Amino acid sequence: MTEGQKQWGGRFADGPAAIMEEINASIDFDQRFGLEDITASKAHTEMLSAQGIITPEEGSAIIAGLDEVLDEWQAGTLAYSATLEDIHTHVELRLREKIGKVAGKLHTARSRNDQVATDFRLWLRSAIDAILGDIRGLSLALVEVAESHTETPMAGLTHMQVAQPVSFAHHLMAYAQMFRRDAERLMDCRKRVNESPLGSAALAGTAFPIDRFKTAERLGFARPMANSMDGVAARDFALEFLSCASIHSVHLSRLAEEMVLWSSAQINYIRFSDAFSTGSSIMPQKRNPDAAELVRAKPGRIIGHLMGLLSVMKALPLTYAKDMQEDKEPVFATVDTLELCLAAMTGMVRDMQPNPEAMLDHLQGGFPTATDLADWLVRETGVAFREAHHMSGEIVRMAEHKGCDISELSLEEMQQVAPMLTEEIFTVLSIPNSMASRISYGGAAPETVMQQIEQYRKEFLICS
Ligand code: ARG
Repeated sequence: MTEGQKQWGGRFADGPAAIMEEINASIDFDQRFGLEDITASKAHTEMLSAQGIITPEEGSAIIAGLDEVLDEWQAGTLAYSATLEDIHTHVELRLREKIGKVAGKLHTARSRNDQVATDFRLWLRSAIDAILGDIRGLSLALVEVAESHTETPMAGLTHMQVAQPVSFAHHLMAYAQMFRRDAERLMDCRKRVNESPLGSAALAGTAFPIDRFKTAERLGFARPMANSMDGVAARDFALEFLSCASIHSVHLSRLAEEMVLWSSAQINYIRFSDAFSTGSSIMPQKRNPDAAELVRAKPGRIIGHLMGLLSVMKALPLTYAKDMQEDKEPVFATVDTLELCLAAMTGMVRDMQPNPEAMLDHLQGGFPTATDLADWLVRETGVAFREAHHMSGEIVRMAEHKGCDISELSLEEMQQVAPMLTEEIFTVLSIPNSMASRISYGGAAPETVMQQIEQYRKEFLICS
């Protein structure tokens, strides 16, 4: 292009140094905004025309031309060049090539500052909607596995040690609940993404009689942003998205880590089919859970992107500064990474084959009903809980010495520690009975977990 074509060419006698162009260009990544840029430009043009700022003929010519540019962008035939800096300039100059000088009227009452903020918000809003769909898909997969495992006992752990019996369903539903909250956080973040900066112009608004409510409505925004300086300078919508994404990726990584442990030969709670296992190039016996390990690792990037953008925005004075061009790559990369993790995790949840025998085996070895014994003593004999806890502990020690579970000790043996025990104690020492007794709201009993699942389906999977 010649200098005369540069959008600010009037003020400059010389062209930029090559390195200036290189550091300045964002087209390599903001080309992803093609659809949003053109959609927002069409809304702006319609408004300019409706307000009598341009003529209806000019408006129609611009819109027809923008549609052609959109076709090229969608077909991947729009040519990119660092000289044209960013997607906004590319679209406008291509428009001029198509419809001539009238293209220059598109930028009336607008600046790239409000334009980029508008495009970014539109893009992120769609990305959030896609992610929300993916989170629901993953949650449904968890619920469907959970539904057939409300009676599959599993060791509930604290400090990685066997604590109390729970079911595989209860454990999986804990993740489903985290993911529901992650989705709710994103829905809340979406409200703040969904406000229109368009018409803030460079920073101060404009003297043209524009209608910001009209463009906001046309683009599906809830409202125009109330302060034009904030409109061009705010990036907390992106930071908030990255925060939500970080938390969600951390939750995914916790499940991923459990899957790595569960699928190990030592623990063997689940098995992945060949579709989700990788072999070793040297050790033929290996079935590695690489996908789970990668989902475990990816928060490293996502949290990094959050820290990166926080650092860019920190101490940045109002309003726009080119620093803010650095806002897009971390968000794009986060969306791509998260979508990949969600797809992989959903695939793994649907693929994993649980091994209830191994779960039960591990549970039985950990004296999981010791609390039930203490609770029985409190309930049936009126002993104080601290005392009951102590007696139960001594009985566990006795079983440990004998190398058996407490339910395998004789009544007489247990009575040496707690003389008030009766035959009835054996009913609470069984794992299914222990589980079935945990009927407090949100507890591990099969029927309670089933209620949890029903409520979850109703409140998260079906109605929203
Ligand atoms: N490429 C720029 C960005 O991403 C667009 C806004 C340019 N505005 C400006 N005043 N130079 O931030």
